[in-house]
Amino acid sequence: MAFPETRMRRLRATPQLRGLVAETQLQHADLLAPLFIAEGLSGSEPIPSMPGVSRHSVEAAVTEAAELAALGVPGVLLFGIPAHKDAQGSGAYDPDGIVQQATRAIKAAHPDLLVIADTCLCEYTDHGHCGVLHGETVDNDATLELLAKTALSQAEAGADIVAPSDMMDGRIGHLRRSLDQAGHSELPLMSYSSKFASAFYGPFREAAGSTPARGDRRAYQLPGANAREALRESRLDADEGADILMVKPALAYLDIVGRVREQTELPLAAYNVGGEYAMLKAAAAAGYLNERDAVLETLTSIKRAGADIIITYHAKDAAKWL
Ligand code: PBG
Ligand code: ZN
Repeated sequence: MAFPETRMRRLRATPQLRGLVAETQLQHADLLAPLFIAEGLSGSEPIPSMPGVSRHSVEAAVTEAAELAALGVPGVLLFGIPAHKDAQGSGAYDPDGIVQQATRAIKAAHPDLLVIADTCLCEYTDHGHCGVLHGETVDNDATLELLAKTALSQAEAGADIVAPSDMMDGRIGHLRRSLDQAGHSELPLMSYSSKFASAFYGPFREAAGSTPARGDRRAYQLPGANAREALRESRLDADEGADILMVKPALAYLDIVGRVREQTELPLAAYNVGGEYAMLKAAAAAGYLNERDAVLETLTSIKRAGADIIITYHAKDAAKWL
């Protein structure tokens, strides 16, 4: 049947009708908020490229976590900025490292808030790469050992989920085995399975001080032009034992979100990254668009594409607006 028997506008006439047939519903339960914890900081310090986002001391992070929890955000994703960096990224697996301290403090104050620890070395290495260097290249297998130490120390600190974001080969299997051997067989792994080399990480690297001193991350992160390769990455991580997969960034890769969704039964996260946040904030600040409407439309698009979990710097605002 076509027009005039069919009239698409019938079900759009009122908010109630539109609500009844809504296919996608963004919820508080879908959101995770990234938090930056800086060693040696007192209070909070705004991040210029991400208006509305700050680096926090452990104490301030506990306060921020409390606000997020009160707004109904179910969890936080912790990134650490250590006082000292070295070639081996030893701050990442220090039992008393900044993320380990923050994990303990947040879990003690808010046991019901999920604490997810980012497992990577780039914020802790003096060269800024996600693994240890062997000459000019990042040594895959040597890095796996350090990632396992990092994940174990995060598990010991009480993290609810660990989230490896390094893009080394074989890391999910290696972390799963290491965690299981150490008695953490119940700890879920959220893999940054299809993570692309992206210009949209710029603001994050400014926030975390993790820009590579030489070269870039193209020897380990996915090329933006390759969808099949991204599907392979997610399939490999599922086979290695990932509990949750991820596509990152979200907006320039919504087709990948949709295709990974069709390929797997695992829960899927999408990371609405710093550059995506910064673009929208800048346009809103200039008065070019309505921030609330643009944020909710953007987050809904990520969910509609197939993400179950949305990691976003808009989490606090979105939780207020929902
Ligand atoms: C690196 C890492 C990145 C982000 C989080 N962890 C990307 C990168 O620097 O290559 C990006 C998050 C964002 O841009 O918001 N392990
Ligand atoms: Zn990294």
